[in-house]
Amino acid sequence: MLPHSLLLCLLFLVPTSTSTSGTDGGFTFDGFSGGMLWLDGVASISSRALMLTDGAPQSIGRAFFGRRFDSISSFSTTFVFVITPPYPDLSGHGFAFTVSATPPILDALPSQYMGMFNVENAGNVTNRLFAVELDTIWNKEFRDPDDNHVGIDVNSLVSISTHVAGYYNPDGTFSELLLISGEPMQVWVDYDDSSHLVNVSLAPYLQHKPQRPLLSTTLNLTSILRSSVYVGFASATGTVRSIHRIIGWSFNPDGAAEPLDYSVLSEVIQDVRRADQRSHSHIPKQVLIPAVTMSVIITLVIIVALYVCMKKARGSGEWEIDCGSSSFTYKDLVAATSGFSDKMLLGKGGFGKVYRGVLQASKQDVAIKRVSPESKQGMKEFIAEITILGHLRHRNLVQLLGYSRHKSELLLVYDYMPNGGLDRVLHGQDKQSLHWVCRLNIIKGIASGLCYLHEEWEKVVIHRDIKTSNVLLDNEMNGRLGDFGLARLHNHGTDAHTTHLAGTWGYIAPELARLGRATKATDVFAFGVFMLEVACGRRPIEVNDSGEPVLLTDWVTDVWESGSILKSVDPKLEHYVREEAELVLKLGLLCSHQAHIARPSMRLIVQYLVNDVLLPDFQPSFLGLTSRDEDFDQYIPACPSVATTMTGLSGGR
Ligand SMILES: *[C@@H]1O[C@H](CO)[C@@H](O)[C@H](O)[C@H]1NC(C)=O
Ligand SMILES: *[C@@H]1O[C@H](CO)[C@@H](O)[C@H](O)[C@H]1NC(C)=O
Ligand SMILES: *[C@@H]1O[C@H](CO)[C@@H](O)[C@H](O)[C@H]1NC(C)=O
Repeated sequence: MLPHSLLLCLLFLVPTSTSTSGTDGGFTFDGFSGGMLWLDGVASISSRALMLTDGAPQSIGRAFFGRRFDSISSFSTTFVFVITPPYPDLSGHGFAFTVSATPPILDALPSQYMGMFNVENAGNVTNRLFAVELDTIWNKEFRDPDDNHVGIDVNSLVSISTHVAGYYNPDGTFSELLLISGEPMQVWVDYDDSSHLVNVSLAPYLQHKPQRPLLSTTLNLTSILRSSVYVGFASATGTVRSIHRIIGWSFNPDGAAEPLDYSVLSEVIQDVRRADQRSHSHIPKQVLIPAVTMSVIITLVIIVALYVCMKKARGSGEWEIDCGSSSFTYKDLVAATSGFSDKMLLGKGGFGKVYRGVLQASKQDVAIKRVSPESKQGMKEFIAEITILGHLRHRNLVQLLGYSRHKSELLLVYDYMPNGGLDRVLHGQDKQSLHWVCRLNIIKGIASGLCYLHEEWEKVVIHRDIKTSNVLLDNEMNGRLGDFGLARLHNHGTDAHTTHLAGTWGYIAPELARLGRATKATDVFAFGVFMLEVACGRRPIEVNDSGEPVLLTDWVTDVWESGSILKSVDPKLEHYVREEAELVLKLGLLCSHQAHIARPSMRLIVQYLVNDVLLPDFQPSFLGLTSRDEDFDQYIPACPSVATTMTGLSGGR
């Protein structure tokens, strides 16, 4: 979990100085010298720029104009910003211009929450927050169509309207702009109360405001604007350290924003560049990205990436990224693992080896996953893992602490899980077995982690490889889901992509084997098998006395049909609560129902497990039915399934 101290940001009022000029209640900052701003978190004024984040990972920086605006109706703002990422081909998160009714002292989270929300209040209408987000997530090797975009958000991080960052030329063609190019850019946001129209435009620094806005959306902001509001910026970094700076900003609560003084801004930009060159050699040389076409931009980025790689290769031969509270260099990781010695080997996976390590500086125990350099597929999956894990934060997910690149190799550093994989504990030779209380706690924990991936995060994450060996136990024996190497992101409400079949036999849903398409429902199937495995202490596929493979789901169903379902409970368990065991077994069977529409959603599964909702009564015969059987439908109203939940989702949330 995120250290709470991070959230208890220092809030202070910087004394007024002269850089602000007021016009009829509006203001203009041509460069910043610390006047009339509330600064929060890591935000500061440096080199005459407003530095929202300073390159520290997992941090929040916010800045608000030092006074409220009362009952504004139409407003207009413009600002010039520069984002300096540590690498030209990888970036995290971004920042947002915000207009919010609540005072800027909310608890907010970094990473994907962009310093605007926390887990509880994201999406809540009582937030009364309007934001224009510049989402800089960008990863050359693993690009999502949603990356590098500008979005309009109201009360939530699920944008109402988004567009790839860029601008429309006078001839109607579109030019993409890479937000993390390190080049200054200008944004305009205009809201007109009579037409309820919000326009957002973006352009390279010193270019005119585009005639056609990038985003133009009808939006009634009356309920947000009717009482007093604060205007400002919220910004956050995740595992990748980016520096977000505002160079100039003008706001008018009633009418067009005052133009900025570009002669002053250009000086500030020079100052900022000089400061960066002095402070850090990690920041790559600024790249000039002319706004021509995407292909040109990509080509340039690749050239720069190659340039940086070659430059680094000539130097130390390594390329590291600082993550977490400490920075990991390849050297640190070599020292931590005694030179990746076999003694420290924890295991081998499909795409590399996992080592145990102790970081010399902090004496912290870590697990280090090292991708096999010969595996191209492995590298792709690793990048996917970084992109996803860097954004995710849940007590039942294995936390990524950071990563490092060394030549063509990638190393991921995780919290070390002292109690290892659940499969070893469940199926090991140890006489000492896991208590029921502990097993139920692990099941509930993994359900909650998976629910977060499916339902609670801004994108749907399909895990694709839920199994006991991917559930690791922390020092309090809580289950944590790891190994997102196979996970893929897709946007809420859109279909999962069809990709190659991934998963582990025994956990693969029938329709996944048939159609090769992973969905929330195929994850739920695997989770059902997982629950049965934990309760029964049997593997998903075991060989019976006559040498034939038997599926765990079939075996439990047979036991149930021939008497009591509780006879399938792990014989190693001396004590267990009958009602709880019955719930887990029946829910496990329901989750691994052959027909995907009979499977409950993860949210519902969590509710069943904590007894918020009663599991519908069904007989073992129901498990043999297919959706084409006549009796099938009569169960469906009683079992709000993952399928119906997904239909509800497509309208957004
Ligand atoms: C929204 O926030 C309010 C105030 O904090 C709270 O009372 C309410 O329960 C929240 N609603 C949801 C759906 O979380
Ligand atoms: C938004 O853009 C549209 C289309 O260019 C324009 O007609 C409208 O006046 C603009 N509104 C504001 C508030 O700038
Ligand atoms: C905009 O929202 C306000 C408050 O919710 C409402 O009173 C008003 O009628 C809305 N206007 C339009 C045009 O929908």
